[in-house]
Amino acid sequence: VRIAVLGTGIVARTVGAALVRLGEEVTLGTRDVEATLARTDTDVMGNVPLARWREENPAVRLDTYRRATADADLVVNATAGSSSLAALHAAGAENLAGKVLLDLANPLDHSADGPPTLFVKDTDSLAEQIQRAFPDTRVVKSLNTMSAHLMVAPGALADGGTSVFTSGDDPSAKQVVTELLHRLGWRDVIDLGDLSTARGTEMLLPVWVRLWQALGTGHFNFAVAR
Ligand SMILES: NC(=O)c1ccc[n+]([C@@H]2O[C@H](COP(=O)([O-])OP(=O)(O)OC[C@H]3O[C@@H](n4cnc5c(N)ncnc54)[C@H](OP(=O)(O)O)[C@@H]3O)[C@@H](O)[C@H]2O)c1
Repeated sequence: VRIAVLGTGIVARTVGAALVRLGEEVTLGTRDVEATLARTDTDVMGNVPLARWREENPAVRLDTYRRATADADLVVNATAGSSSLAALHAAGAENLAGKVLLDLANPLDHSADGPPTLFVKDTDSLAEQIQRAFPDTRVVKSLNTMSAHLMVAPGALADGGTSVFTSGDDPSAKQVVTELLHRLGWRDVIDLGDLSTARGTEMLLPVWVRLWQALGTGHFNFAVAR
């Protein structure tokens, strides 16, 4: 399967490399390939520039949002939430039409001091904004409620048995994503229902951020006991 993972940050890299390990063909999408490869800074979280990361991950390709998406069978949105609509418009509605879009972005607003706030919530969600902008695309929200390294290694937590959620209007698209989640090692996949249920998982982020601050690590996840 050819998968376009839109984004070049830690999430896109982690998910992209994991999908290559599963035997898929992966292309990361970025605004400007040359500009992205010319970056030399390690970011505040300690992530090395993409060019250096690619030396260790040569199987992961890099292209523009548009070219990465054009021949993809499945698309993953791993861009900053505030830029996701711009990134997807750059990819092109015609290239996204009919395709499953796994959206794991969060609508975080980092513009003020203190913990990020949500720029959409309660009565709408980023996932629904994306679905409205691209009505022919089959949007499924998932994997947005844990750190990148746990998205692809759910068994890495000592407690194990943690949960991941899915939201989406198209049952067959949700099935595609659920199978992918199983291949990544997820066992407790909770189908919350239609895409409006992504309001709930996106609104978990303020809780996630406080837990991260309190625990001093992102190495934790939500587990639904029942
Ligand atoms: N970090 C985590 O552990 C984690 C966990 C769960 C969910 N998430 C969500 O996953 C997403 C990715 O997170 P991240 O930390 O890997 O990276 P990020 O820093 O949030 O996003 C980086 C990506 O956003 C793109 N971007 C930024 N501004 C843009 C613009 N104006 N137009 C188009 N694209 C733009 C960048 O494009 P270029 O490549 O062109 O620079 C880059 O590919 C976010 O929505 C985040 O909330 C993150």
